[in-house]
Amino acid sequence: MQLLQNKNIVLGISGGIAAYKAPELIRRLTDQGANVRAVLTSSAKEFVTPLSLQAVSGYPVSDNLLDPAAELAMGHIELAKWADLILIAPATANTIAKICHGLADNLLTTICLATAAPVALAPAMNQQMWHSIITQQNIMQLRDRGLHIWGPAAGIQACGDTGFGRMLDVPDLVEQCCQFYQSKSLSGQHWVITAGPTQEAIDPVRYISNHSSGKMGYAIAQAAINAGANVTLISGPVNITPPKGAELVPVKSAQEMHLQAMALAPTADTFVACAAVADYKVADIATQKIKKSAGTMQINLVKNPDIVADVAALKNKPFTVGFAAETQNVQQYALGKLKKKNLDLIAANDVSVQGQGFNSDDNALIVYSTAAAVQISLASKAEVARQLVQVIIDYKSNSE
Ligand code: C5P
Repeated sequence: MQLLQNKNIVLGISGGIAAYKAPELIRRLTDQGANVRAVLTSSAKEFVTPLSLQAVSGYPVSDNLLDPAAELAMGHIELAKWADLILIAPATANTIAKICHGLADNLLTTICLATAAPVALAPAMNQQMWHSIITQQNIMQLRDRGLHIWGPAAGIQACGDTGFGRMLDVPDLVEQCCQFYQSKSLSGQHWVITAGPTQEAIDPVRYISNHSSGKMGYAIAQAAINAGANVTLISGPVNITPPKGAELVPVKSAQEMHLQAMALAPTADTFVACAAVADYKVADIATQKIKKSAGTMQINLVKNPDIVADVAALKNKPFTVGFAAETQNVQQYALGKLKKKNLDLIAANDVSVQGQGFNSDDNALIVYSTAAAVQISLASKAEVARQLVQVIIDYKSNSE
């Protein structure tokens, strides 16, 4: 699915080294269905040629405010009206300052003054320039005026410095554009999502756990946030960063996850159980480290509570979505769990297939209700999560 289908994007390019990424950015935006027209400042032309931008965008490139021929083709006012979005990438400190103070001394800054379209800036500059008081004040003012500031990222810079000031990478900028256009159909809704593994203590230094990375649950949290939801993420121990905007509730054991889920689920609109919860816990957790002894050792295990089943048994249950990681008979087992646990939907994946599921960056799902099945083909977990959230939205609205 192309998320920027028929969107008209004016890509403003100002004169920073990151301008060399502009052709790739145009390619990736057009892959998503956008029409992109490039507008260059005169210093940007030192880093990237109008000819290459024209070749990848399929449109003539505009770079001169006072060129009668260019103005006849598509003048600055027409460009300002044509745009659904103006993205300036890279946005140099100089261009940011000009836009902040309303200067209109080149085609790009003039379009920014003349447009009613949203404007997004992807700052790119030396870290000292980024941190300077005047740049920070300009950025703050622009944010207050409703402009979108995407980035910058931190890292090694072209000048050899390290710090904030790098332009966001092309995939991140494309993702920002896609998010910008995604409908906020979940605004006002509260989603509670469980993610990651649980750790079941054996003694103070040992535990039983599994290979869950938390990536799928975190991607669902991100996708729900992108669609406007307030998200609470109840997460077992993982090594990944939670999505910005999610309320993180860190837990270790299934018992802790159960406690948090039962407290939060009654206020939720939707509950997604993506965590790989340990089915068993240790019957008697040793208070001291267990010492080695000869021969075998035995640990007695007892059943953990089934979190998603308990949530689905609540009197005012939220719309409840479970996961089924299977290695065989996927449909049969998934549908069995759907019914037994009283779920609204179950997202099944075949974890025996290499390159999807546990610890992988990609996944593929079949989402079952009692009446239908929707296939989500192999894709990045971010994309699979976006589609899963859409399936949940569609299913909920059809059953209301
Ligand atoms: O029964 P099984 O563990 O295969 O079911 C998987 C689904 O149940 C997942 O959604 C998982 O998050 C949830 N689950 C749970 N509590 C457990 C075990 C599984 O919420 N104790």
